[in-house]
This record gives sequence, C-alpha cells and structure tokens, in this order.
Amino acid sequence: MNSQEMYEKMKAKLERVVPDVELRYKAEIAVEIEELKKHRNAVILGHNYMEPALFHSIPDFTGDSLDLSRKAARTDKDVIVFCGVRFMAETAKILNPSKTVLLPSAKAGCSLAASITVDDVHALKNKFPGVPVVTYVNTYADVKAESDICCTSSNAIAVVESLHTQAVIFLPDEYLAKNVARETGKHIIFPSVSGGKTDSDDGLDYQLIGWRGRCEVHEKFTVKDIETVRAQFPDVAILAHPECSPEVTAAADFSGSTNAMIRYVQESQAPHYLLLTECAMGDNIAAANPQKDMLRLCMVRCPHMNMITMEDTRDALKFNQYVIEIPEEIRIKAYRAVERMIQIG
Ligand code: 13P
Ligand code: SF4
Repeated sequence: MNSQEMYEKMKAKLERVVPDVELRYKAEIAVEIEELKKHRNAVILGHNYMEPALFHSIPDFTGDSLDLSRKAARTDKDVIVFCGVRFMAETAKILNPSKTVLLPSAKAGCSLAASITVDDVHALKNKFPGVPVVTYVNTYADVKAESDICCTSSNAIAVVESLHTQAVIFLPDEYLAKNVARETGKHIIFPSVSGGKTDSDDGLDYQLIGWRGRCEVHEKFTVKDIETVRAQFPDVAILAHPECSPEVTAAADFSGSTNAMIRYVQESQAPHYLLLTECAMGDNIAAANPQKDMLRLCMVRCPHMNMITMEDTRDALKFNQYVIEIPEEIRIKAYRAVERMIQIG
C-alpha cells in the first residue's frame, strides 16, 4: 500500500477524529511501519488505549490486556511489537520467550505496577502464610513470579472464585479489589506490612486482603462527574473501568474491561455514551462506530500509554528497541501464574 492509499484507508475511519494534516503525516509513517513489519516478520499488538491514528492503522490485533496476552502467546512471528505499556510487553515475553518483544518507549510504565515490590509481596505472605496470592496483570514480572495466579479486569472475579479458599491476597489495585469484594460479597481488609496498625479491622472474618495501589487515571473520576453528566443527559449510558472507585462503578450503568466496554457500546442502543476510562478509547470507539454518540469527559490521558507514538513504533522496528528481557528463573515462575489465569479465561 502506498501512502495515498494508506491515507484514504485511515481517513475513512478517522476524518471526524483526527485533523487531515496529521492523517497525511501519519499515513506516511504507517507505510514505513508496514514495510518494516514485513521485513522483520513482526506482529504489532495495540492496546485499546492507543491514540486513534495508531490504533486504526498499524496493529495486526487490538484489544484489552487479556486478549493481547493470548495473541502474544499464539503468534508465530519472530518479533512482537507491543503498543501498550511495559507490564503488557513483559507478559508477552513471559508467554512467548523465544520471540523478540519490543516496547516502543522505555518510559511506558504504569502507576499500579509501580505501587508494589517483591519485598511487599513477601511481607504479605509472611503475615498471611498459606493464603494464595492473586496479582493483577498490571504488575512487573518479579511480582507476578511471587503470585499463585494472575488476573485482568475481565476475569478478576472468576479467578478469585476459582480458588475456593477462605481468604485471598489480591494485589495491587485497591479499587479493583474493592470492586471484586463488592461483586463477590467478600469482606476486604488493607493490612499494614511495616509493623504499623492495620487500617482496617484485622479481627474481622476477612476474605480478601488488598493493597493500596491506584491507577492514576481512573482514580480521578468521581460520582460528582457522573451526576453532572446525568443532569445534562439523563438517558446517557455510563461505563466505568473497574479501576475506578467502587462508588463510581456502582453509580455507572456498566463496569468492565476495555474490551467489555467496547462490546457494550457496539451491542446496545443508548442515545449517548460516556466512558470513564482513558480518553483515547472514546475516540477509537467513535471512529469505529460513527452512528454512536460518545460524550467526552476527557480529563486525563494515561501518561504511560501516551508515550507510545507511531514514530517510536517505527523506530522500535528499525533499531530493535526497547528489547524486553526477563531473567529465566523469574519468567518460569511468572509463566505459571499467567498461564493459570489464561486457562480460566
Ligand atoms: P484492560 O485489561 O481492561 O485492557 O485494562 C488495562 C489497563 O491498564 C486499564 O487501565
Ligand atoms: Fe496503568 Fe492506569 Fe495507565 Fe492503565 S491507565 S496503564 S492502569 S496508569
């Protein structure tokens, strides 16, 4: 495909979302990326939070973190370029270690993954011996390696329920843990591991043991935001990612993973939709579903997802950067936890 053809293809989806001058420029980069992709026998995976021009042009597969993990596990290409954040690229490497996994920006982290260390996990295990550890995939490989099983926002409840134990340690997202606790009717505590007093009641019959990590994007949405939008658009359907606070998810009409939110919009007939999640996803859905009215409450982009540009993706393939490496002893342990999750679905 030449750059004019690429421009036409992108314009058909994106003309209402991306300015024309940007489309022409990005179409040229997309053509370069397509050539490099063939040359390197690469697959490009694009998370639902990628900016619209990237999301709707170069990825071979788009999706939520669970979906893209599965694609990474199954690919027979030599190179996996992960247009997402570091923990996602690490998960790809954990599942498919013989491939070269590239993350286009070395700075694409995640506030949840940064909220917990291996030492924190050891301290919790010492405090609650024998209690299984579930970690959200938004963690680094060394933390996954200390877990019994991982989960994503799309299977967190199924994973917790699969364990059939009296208690479960659930790390590191405070809000996801509280949302799971509410949905499963479990009592949650947030213990101190540094010797201080537990800020919840240790003596109660707890079933979930949480950690106070937060997504710096989703923690910003409030019930007041929902009330303000509903006052203006009473028939709006409001969708919140489960990394939002339990008050926000309870006030929303639907809560689910990024893929589940996309499905909800595609399959329902509300006059307006409001997404309480990373901004780019609303634009991506609007581009793919021009008949749907997406309201924008775009307060904040994820600074980590926002690091991944088309220019960096081209350079990743051109200069083989940034290569994800995981020490084999950590990878093997992390693999068990991720694979066990994938078996659950
Ligand atoms: P999903 O697994 O729903 O795609 O979410 C990933 C994420 O980082 C949300 O902030
Ligand atoms: Fe992490 Fe939040 Fe960004 Fe998702 S949106 S990658 S959880 S900081």
